[in-house]
Order: sequence, then C-alpha cells, then structure tokens
Amino acid sequence: MTSQTITAAASGTWKLGDLTVNRVGFGAMRLPQYGEAFAPDAVPRGRDQAIGVLRRAAELGVNHIDTAAFYFSPLRSANELINQALAPYPDDLVIATKVGPGRDPSGQWLPHATPEQLRGQVEENLRQLGRDHLDVVNLRIVGTDSIAERFGALAELREAGLIRHLGLSNVRPHHLAEAQAIAPVVCVQNMYGIGASSEQKEFLDLCGEQRIAFVPFYAIAGAGRTAGATTADSPEVHTIARAHGVSAAQIRLAWTLHQGSHVLAIPGTGDLDHLVQNVAAGSLRLSEEELLALDPLHHETA
Ligand SMILES: NC(=O)c1ccc[n+]([C@@H]2O[C@H](COP(=O)([O-])OP(=O)(O)OC[C@H]3O[C@@H](n4cnc5c(N)ncnc54)[C@H](OP(=O)(O)O)[C@@H]3O)[C@@H](O)[C@H]2O)c1
Repeated sequence: MTSQTITAAASGTWKLGDLTVNRVGFGAMRLPQYGEAFAPDAVPRGRDQAIGVLRRAAELGVNHIDTAAFYFSPLRSANELINQALAPYPDDLVIATKVGPGRDPSGQWLPHATPEQLRGQVEENLRQLGRDHLDVVNLRIVGTDSIAERFGALAELREAGLIRHLGLSNVRPHHLAEAQAIAPVVCVQNMYGIGASSEQKEFLDLCGEQRIAFVPFYAIAGAGRTAGATTADSPEVHTIARAHGVSAAQIRLAWTLHQGSHVLAIPGTGDLDHLVQNVAAGSLRLSEEELLALDPLHHETA
C-alpha cells in the first residue's frame, strides 16, 4: 500500500447534519504535548511540529477535527494551534468541540460545568478557534445522571445560532433518548475499539439505525487511554497487519471503520508519519475472514 498518496476521501463520507465529512478525521488531544495527555509535567510539543501536522492533515483531505478547550499543556492549546494552522478555515472543514469538563488555567480539573456555565465554555471555544459559531458541540458527561438541563442549555445556544449541531460524548442509550426529546443529535462520541463490549456494539448499531454518527475515541490507544498507544495488540491483529503490510494501529483504526458506514475515525497524533498512516487506514478493506478473526477479540474484554 502506498500510504503517501492516499487521502481521507478514500474512507468515504458521512453527513453530520448538513455538513459532509470524510470518515477519517483527526483528534487534536495529542497536539499540545508529547506523551500522556493532561499530565501535570507534560512537555509541550513544538509549535511548528503541531502546526505542520494540522496542515498536512488538511492537505490529506481531513475535514473533521475533534478538539476541546481543555486540550492544553503548558504553552500550547489545541484550539489555538488549530486556529493558527488552519484559519481562515476552508469551507468544508468541520470542527467538533466538546463541553462539560473544564480545567483552570494551571490545568487542574474543575467540576463539570453547570447548565449556566456551558455558555461560557461555548464562548471560550469560539474565541480560541476564532469563529462566530461552532459546527458541532458534544456534551461530554460522566455518570448516568439526567442530561436534560445541560443539553437543554446547549439547545438554546443552538437556537441562538452559536452552535450548528449537537452531539453527546461518553453517554449511554438512555442519555441519547433523553437528548433527542430536546434537540437533534448528530453524533455520539464514545470510547470504542477492538475489545469493546457487546453493549457498546449494540449502542453503535443503534446510532447507525438512527443515522447518527458514532465517533470512537481511543480506537488506537485502547487501554492505554490518555497515556497513548501500547504495543500490546493480539497476535491476530499483528497477523492481519503483516498480511496487509500495515501497522497494528492501522488495523485497529480500519476495524472501527468496518463497524458501520456511520462510524467516523478521529485518530490523535503529533507524528507526521502516523498521520499519513492513519489517513491511509481509511482505504484498508478487511475481508470477512479477517473481521471474523478479530471479532472474538471484540468480546473477550467485555
Ligand atoms: N470524548 C472524549 O471523552 C474523548 C476522550 C479522549 C479522546 N477524545 C478525542 O479522541 C481523539 C482520539 O483519541 P486519542 O488521540 O487518545 O487516541 P488514539 O487515536 O486512539 O491513539 C493516540 C495514540 O496512539 C498513537 N498513534 C496514533 N497513530 C498511530 C499510528 N499510526 N501508529 C502508532 N501509534 C499511533 C499516538 O501517539 P503519536 O502521537 O506518537 O502518534 C497516541 O499515543 C483525541 O485526539 C480526542 O480528540 C475524546
């Protein structure tokens, strides 16, 4: 596979509301620092390196970038890097951000935003990204509590024109139903990848039935989570990777894209070679046999 020439268009497209995106996008969480995200002693990534990755992503046809105002390290913020690298933004670029969690200026986590505080978080993203509206805003939650008041607050900001489309993150099916009674939901962004549980797969399928995008995070990092990718992939993943002449990370990513045409990838990287590989993973076609070989892995860590 000549990954150098493969663009994000090879992954196909999906519509987030009225906004068409290539299915392979980019996650900005890895840009502000080397190594573990949110680590108190994080080493800021070089500005030129981060900007170079973003510009190369755009050249490769990536037109869906996931970010958050709380993605920052000492000296670098993902939103500010996106602004510097890509503004004036191309018409087809969709920037999705998320609100709910927050960090104070020194990086300490704050309690999740109240409904009243969400407007400030939306405005913070607008300022940092230099936009007058946000394409997609995900309400990122923890726990099982009702999201009606918080989602209602975002629905009002959507009505006011500050937000084009709404999504949810780290949610369960009952949250989706609750939100949909308030305003349309265009995407669900949850942790997902090889080894996900059958409940997670059922939720992914439910989203597909309703034409809602399912956007996995940690598709490559898996159990490494904020610490990043590990080399602990199963022999099956490595065998299939070798057969295609690609890396295990590319197989992990391709596997998510095979779970449904509504699945969008947002791999995070600060490495130009990894970026090219991740975009190329969108053109990988796994056979039924290969999917079957990976499927038991789908349930073993459920
Ligand atoms: N909604 C939420 O709660 C939530 C939570 C977490 C993340 N997110 C979003 O989801 C995005 C994806 O998550 P993520 O960035 O943590 O995870 P990921 O894409 O699953 O994995 C990123 C990790 O894998 C490495 N990596 C990336 N491409 C690789 C490749 N081709 N080969 C080998 N290693 C590779 C990266 O290191 P290198 O930099 O060295 O490539 C990094 O350590 C984030 O960027 C963020 O936008 C959302």
